[in-house]
Amino acid sequence: MLLAHLLHLRGIDSVVLESRSREEIEATLRAGVLEQGTVDLLNESGVGERMRREGMPHEGVILRFDGQSHRIHLSELTGGRAITVYAQHEVIRDLVKARLDRGGRILFGVKDVSLLDLDTRQPKLRFHDKDGALQELACDYIAGCDGFHGVSRPSIPSRLRREFTRVYPFGWFGILVEAPPATDELIYAYHDRGFALVSTRSPQIQRLYLQCNPNNTAGDWPDDRIWEELHARLAGDDGFRLTEGRIFQKGVIAMRSFVVEPMQYGRLFLAGDAAHIVPPTGAKGLNLAVADVRVLALALSEFYASGRTQLMDRYSETALQRVWRAEHFSWWMTSMLHHFHDESPFHHRLQLSQLRYVTESRAAAAMLAENYVGLPFRDD
Ligand code: PHB
Repeated sequence: MLLAHLLHLRGIDSVVLESRSREEIEATLRAGVLEQGTVDLLNESGVGERMRREGMPHEGVILRFDGQSHRIHLSELTGGRAITVYAQHEVIRDLVKARLDRGGRILFGVKDVSLLDLDTRQPKLRFHDKDGALQELACDYIAGCDGFHGVSRPSIPSRLRREFTRVYPFGWFGILVEAPPATDELIYAYHDRGFALVSTRSPQIQRLYLQCNPNNTAGDWPDDRIWEELHARLAGDDGFRLTEGRIFQKGVIAMRSFVVEPMQYGRLFLAGDAAHIVPPTGAKGLNLAVADVRVLALALSEFYASGRTQLMDRYSETALQRVWRAEHFSWWMTSMLHHFHDESPFHHRLQLSQLRYVTESRAAAAMLAENYVGLPFRDD
């Protein structure tokens, strides 16, 4: 949706195929943390008005361990950059509205999409529209932004792609709670019983997560057990107290790292989760997708403006540099903050030492901060 908007601003036409309905995509709860570069891009492209009003800028983030909170001063360590908490489905609502207001074509409810002739000058999309009619769309280029389970990636012949995967032996149990946030900033907590994260969605709603068995379902976590576990993992002697409230949504999130190389085949370009997955600990998923389509929009506009394909030819290489940085950061945050079942006392001491170092050394804190707020785009 963002790619379509960025292309439109440069006078390039597109059609967005979406398998779900507008109502569904605007209601699906996903990530919530926007990097500085994401915020800037949404503002510069004219879709940041509601985000500026309703989003919550955070200049710091808290690491909590040994019963104490330690603040990483993001903006001071990064020359004024920060994160903004504004839910992904709100970004989607703003983008869908921006596209439809400008006459953009979004086909909702399409089914059975297949990608054809990708290695020719005129690739095609074949699909059933929402009324069940078979359609074929001839394209100049196809952007595969259809997520990890989408059809785009498998449309690249398997002998031409290499996949890198790591599955973590835990998941996150996520809840939405009707209660004012107990803290102004996100808290990432390391504890013997497992990781916990305190985030927020609005002045009335908290978003909380706790490390769980990846095979758990909502039924394994009655409200009492959730609160008991969250209180234990966030306990300390500094007076911090979690605010309880009505839990109105529960769900389990799998933890995985994944990258496919290259991110291009013929006239197909993969972007976002279709090409890579990060565990949510670094809050990078949405931001990486934004960075991908930013590179792709620049490359396509260079081509339509001048016929040059240099940027397009380098799309995969350019995008993958940022992807692997985010992969490393997300893996590192995940490894530092979670309890591993086969963990030896040695490993546990290393994790604590790493946490102390990151919160006590300005250089180490700056490393976390610049990755967390997002490294500047390469051509900034
Ligand atoms: C969220 O608010 O959903 C959230 C925040 C930080 C993360 C992951 C998820 O690292």
